[in-house]
Amino acid sequence: MQHALALHGITKSFGGFTALEALDFSVRPGEVHALLGENGAGKSTLMNVACGLYAPDAGWIEIDGQPTRISGARDAAARGIGMVHQHFKLVPSFSVLDNILLFNPGRPAAEIAAATRDLATRMGIPVDLARRAGTLGIAEQQRVEILKVLVAGARVIILDEPTAVLSDDEGLALMRLMRGLAEAGSAVILVTHKLHEALGFSDRITVIRAGRKIVETTPAESDPRRLTTQIVGETIVEMPAPTVAVGAPRLRFDAVSGQGDSGQKGISNVSFTVRGGEIYGIAGVAGNGQTELAQVLIGLTRASAGRIEVDGRDIAGAAADDPRRRGLAAIPVDRYRHGLAGAMSVVENFAVRGTLAGRYGSWLRFDRRRARRDAAAAIAAFDVRGVRNLSQRAALLSGGNAQKLVIAREFQGTPGAVFAHSPTRGLDVRAGAAVHDRLRAARDAGAAVLVISEDLDEILLLSDRIGVLTGGRLTAEFDAPAERAQIGAAMVHHD
Ligand SMILES: Nc1ncnc2c1ncn2[C@@H]1O[C@H](COP(=O)(O)OP(=O)(O)OP(=O)(O)O)[C@@H](O)[C@H]1O
Ligand SMILES: [Mg+2]
Repeated sequence: MQHALALHGITKSFGGFTALEALDFSVRPGEVHALLGENGAGKSTLMNVACGLYAPDAGWIEIDGQPTRISGARDAAARGIGMVHQHFKLVPSFSVLDNILLFNPGRPAAEIAAATRDLATRMGIPVDLARRAGTLGIAEQQRVEILKVLVAGARVIILDEPTAVLSDDEGLALMRLMRGLAEAGSAVILVTHKLHEALGFSDRITVIRAGRKIVETTPAESDPRRLTTQIVGETIVEMPAPTVAVGAPRLRFDAVSGQGDSGQKGISNVSFTVRGGEIYGIAGVAGNGQTELAQVLIGLTRASAGRIEVDGRDIAGAAADDPRRRGLAAIPVDRYRHGLAGAMSVVENFAVRGTLAGRYGSWLRFDRRRARRDAAAAIAAFDVRGVRNLSQRAALLSGGNAQKLVIAREFQGTPGAVFAHSPTRGLDVRAGAAVHDRLRAARDAGAAVLVISEDLDEILLLSDRIGVLTGGRLTAEFDAPAERAQIGAAMVHHD
């Protein structure tokens, strides 16, 4: 069948750096084509070429078999190409409807509202058009992004790491939605790091590495091991976890209650203690208070009751930038919204933490040389790729490399407590394994490490003790080695 979209020999450079080299990629109507590759491989860049955001330096594009030039994102949209970006682009202060209107200029509001409702019903995705986009959860924002491109008439739908920000259940629902779109005749491109998504939900798989195509295959012809080798170009060695002596309590939740910024139920009366030299994992089905617990801990919202102690000091009432939080390193779930300032440079983003701690003088008399030296060392240590210049804007990093930058910053110095929320989401296999190693190293150096993840395997892999969060309460605790089935049961059965 004719391709809905075909990219031929696409080359794209930024300055002297070649991000894509002579790449071919195509997708047919009715097909899901998965695009895989490690952080910085060029996946988003290729898709940005496909949706008209970047003009290629060489190569050409065909739509429905016709050679064509795409002049800008609006032109791509008019030709039926819609992209749901890795980092959502909704205007937070606008309503859902206004966001959809903004993307569909020139069409009457009533028509757009009707079309959106109709699509939402057919796809089984509920939306409240009057709601302010900024108050939506991540999965809801994503649904609006998808509706936005569908209402605009997209026939080629590009999903850039759509499940990286979702829980397992939400991810599965999205995979089904995506299959539904393909069955209805759309051509779908799925950019992902999750091998099971590519193997379970796509028709074709392309792997790229360092801007070049490595292989084009199908789920039937492939398997996780082969794909992994194709993605990273070498096999991964897993490190065994060393056992260390557990020390004194360093992070303590004492009867903490609080609400997140979502206005949802929140957590109530949560108590647990994490000792130095210990990784405490919080398991739970998404939406059982994980977000609210994280927000209260990192100071995005205030606890309504209880104490949160780091090395005996209560930080429950402290705001996110309060120096009282100095002893706590945090890797938030939404690395873009709460972790990085995209318009600021790599070195500025890196130095925020050290500056709060007084390491670089003050903002007024900022020790730039020292900050640059530290940043360069940390970037090397954490294998943050794609930094060609420390003064470049952080927004230019690939999604996964931006995360690695946040992680590198948070691990500076010797924090007493480390908090990581779904720390490997959006990271490729190698980077994910490196982050796990870092968390273990922090534990081995005596920190109290708290990990929240909706991925039970990640919790089991890392934790020395496990708490289960259900309905905003800590309802069970387990020592490792714990049985997966027992924890699973605790996650669903509670009073
Ligand atoms: N506008 C830009 N200016 C400079 N460099 C860029 C720009 N956009 C992307 N790059 C660089 O091109 C490379 C490929 O980035 P890209 O975002 O395509 O990676 P990716 O495969 O999507 O990775 P990830 O899985 O981490 O999202 C990276 O080294 C990135 O820093
Ligand atoms: Mg990307």
